[in-house]
Amino acid sequence: METNSHREEVLHTDQIVAESPKTLCVDIGGSGIKVMVLDAAGTPVTERARRETPQPAQPQSCVEVICDLAKEQGEYDRVSVGFPGVVDEGITHTAPNLHPDWEGFELAKRLEELLGKPVRVANDADVQGFGVITSHGVELVLTLGTGLGSALFVNGHLVPNLELGHHPFRKGETYEEQVGRAALDAVGKKKWNRRIKIMIELLQKILNYRTLYIGGGNAKKVDREGLPENVKIVSNEAGLTGGIALWRD
Ligand code: BGC
Repeated sequence: METNSHREEVLHTDQIVAESPKTLCVDIGGSGIKVMVLDAAGTPVTERARRETPQPAQPQSCVEVICDLAKEQGEYDRVSVGFPGVVDEGITHTAPNLHPDWEGFELAKRLEELLGKPVRVANDADVQGFGVITSHGVELVLTLGTGLGSALFVNGHLVPNLELGHHPFRKGETYEEQVGRAALDAVGKKKWNRRIKIMIELLQKILNYRTLYIGGGNAKKVDREGLPENVKIVSNEAGLTGGIALWRD
């Protein structure tokens, strides 16, 4: 016969299975470092917390901010980090909007030492992409923030570390120079939006994506009027929630 206490125990075990392992997701940006804990299903279980990115944004000072933020997030079992540059096997290779000291920095290893949990690191746009794609056909993700992030997926499979931002775009400038934060500040929203439209038209012709997702802190400044139907503006929170995908093997 099932007693009350047995029923309670079963309920309790189910809850633990649903909630664990918990993932501390970190998004390192050029202006802010954000964190949040997700349960096993990828549902946020803490409020998003944010600190300014230290200036200069050297590895040691950024790692300290991550550790401070992590302390306030309670319990978690593993860590996912979105990094604004090229990353391979936990080692950062470029960080155009942070600091040259990130070249060859063992970010995953350093955080594992400090936080005592397993850590996986991926490019920030790649993480954002995992949070929004539907895994059908070719999907492109662009993030508009301090820099221009890009991620390309084919039926849900990532082409890692696509660095569109630093390719020539127009008028002798790269995509990032034309539509990054500095450009938005310099030329204003109207002209910046014209550039966004030109960029979208060009990338559609080159990559023939089924869907383009635009995220990042400045996505909300994109003029939605006249955007093609296959272009979707997505929440910047996916830069954190996509982190759960780094643990899918
Ligand atoms: C970096 C990318 C990054 C993007 C957004 C660019 O400058 O090269 O790796 O995804 O900024 O942070």
